[in-house]
Amino acid sequence: MSMSLTRTASFQALETHAVDAEDWQMRSLFAADPQRFERMSLEAAGLFLDYSKNRLDGRTLELLAALARERQVEQRRDAMFAGEKINNTENRAVLHTALRAPKNASLVVDGQDVIADVHEVLGRIHRFTDAVRNAEWLGHTGKPITDIVNIGIGGSDLGPKMACLALRPFAHPRLAMHFVSNVDGHDMDAALEKCDPETTLFIVASKTFTTAETMMNAQTARAWFVERAPEAALPKHFVAVSTNTEAVRAFGIDPANMFPFWDWVGGRYSVWSAIGLSVALCVGFGYFSDFLAGAHAMDEHFRTAPVEQNMPMLLGLVGFWNREFLGCPSVSIAPYHQDLNRFPAYLQQLEMESNGKRVTRDGALVEYETCPAIWGECGTNGQHAYFQLLHQGTDVTPMDFIAALRPAHELHKHHTALLANCFAQSEAFMKGKTADEVRKDLQQQGLPLAEIERLTPHKTFPGNRPSNTILMDHLNPTSLGALIALYEHKTFVQGVLWDVNSFDQWGVELGKVLAKKIEAELGGEPQPEQHDSSTNGLIARARAAV
Ligand code: F6P
Repeated sequence: MSMSLTRTASFQALETHAVDAEDWQMRSLFAADPQRFERMSLEAAGLFLDYSKNRLDGRTLELLAALARERQVEQRRDAMFAGEKINNTENRAVLHTALRAPKNASLVVDGQDVIADVHEVLGRIHRFTDAVRNAEWLGHTGKPITDIVNIGIGGSDLGPKMACLALRPFAHPRLAMHFVSNVDGHDMDAALEKCDPETTLFIVASKTFTTAETMMNAQTARAWFVERAPEAALPKHFVAVSTNTEAVRAFGIDPANMFPFWDWVGGRYSVWSAIGLSVALCVGFGYFSDFLAGAHAMDEHFRTAPVEQNMPMLLGLVGFWNREFLGCPSVSIAPYHQDLNRFPAYLQQLEMESNGKRVTRDGALVEYETCPAIWGECGTNGQHAYFQLLHQGTDVTPMDFIAALRPAHELHKHHTALLANCFAQSEAFMKGKTADEVRKDLQQQGLPLAEIERLTPHKTFPGNRPSNTILMDHLNPTSLGALIALYEHKTFVQGVLWDVNSFDQWGVELGKVLAKKIEAELGGEPQPEQHDSSTNGLIARARAAV
């Protein structure tokens, strides 16, 4: 059993240090150290991270690095890369990094060469995606595929959908991508409305092939198809991505049209596996390989760089400081890139499903805070919605700003305005605006003294609010791969610090079981009274509405 986090010498040293740090103002930290930006920024795998606008100093970083060492983050990282069964509640290895390892790498787990298996499936993905994109794989009436519908949820949806959106400039012009995840029929209805059974390819993407929403959506898509096309045409229009061959066969998809992956790939870490089939169809296998290579470059950096110069370690440690010692309950993600629109939603699953835990790996209740809530929206849109609260609300919310230095369009004025807003926001969060500065402004505007005093508190910004800025040259398959891997490893680092198992998700089970029961009750089973009065009342209202 590992020692509780709060009892470690380095955590206790951080606690003492945090008392001193309480009154620190970032303005003063910047003024005192002209080299702060150089000292607190680094480049890796084509990404640049500036973490200087956080309320910490060199000593804080030393103590955080000592904590990482005391918690054995490096040893645990090595155990993950080596294929040890670090997912201790499911007794599984955690090997999403093997999905992006080069062909000449080697890793044997339980007697199986996993790299060879990965590249065998990648070869199949390559051949299939080329055939669809080059109009060699045709629909049952001989027409090229025009629409691809990915049916999946959680990790079998969020990653592929986010990546296809992010890589929009690289997309095949003939292929329209659709993603259906919600059991809400409006989702499927809206997708089918746009599809023609002669030219649509459905991908049923589910690691387990038992997820209720995906199975219902897949059955609906199948029924829609066989109402409009001969059943024998199904193999031309339905493929599966799963670890469960038997369930795929039982659904009626020939395992020859199934792209497999393995139980050592967690759902939220699966976009690199065959779950990325829709991404490979959208951008082509060459760019999909670049996406894997970008992630691999970040893996190599994470695996080899010392803690103090390791981007995922630093992002994880700084986030840990903000959560544990500054008490920040959430983190807001602000991509200043419209094509990263779904990135905050993707990170919600990655971080919150991984580290939203309240017991340690050994099952003891934690005595500290774990994962903050993750949320966000693209800049500049968020600025005109909730940034008010971020600047002047009572909670301090650390921000991650993400931007590309070069756009994929020629609208240069727009890009200058976008970057100006991104940099201005992090400056404003850090500096704030003091009451004296506000007064001076209002005096210059010639306002009467009483009016100046009345308005000053409303126009004052406390500042001192932490943020990171992540820059890339372009948003492309390589940089997107590196960006996702950066956050995967940040999540890993924090999971090790908190001593939680980042790779299970038992917390989603209870609702699933109850929903099955209520679904039967809504479907006409005798009026139930065995729930609480609220649930009984809601069920009764829904039954009355049928
Ligand atoms: O219920 C949560 C979850 O298991 C996620 O972890 C996963 O990404 C999602 O459901 C979908 O699971 P599957 O790919 O097995 O359908």
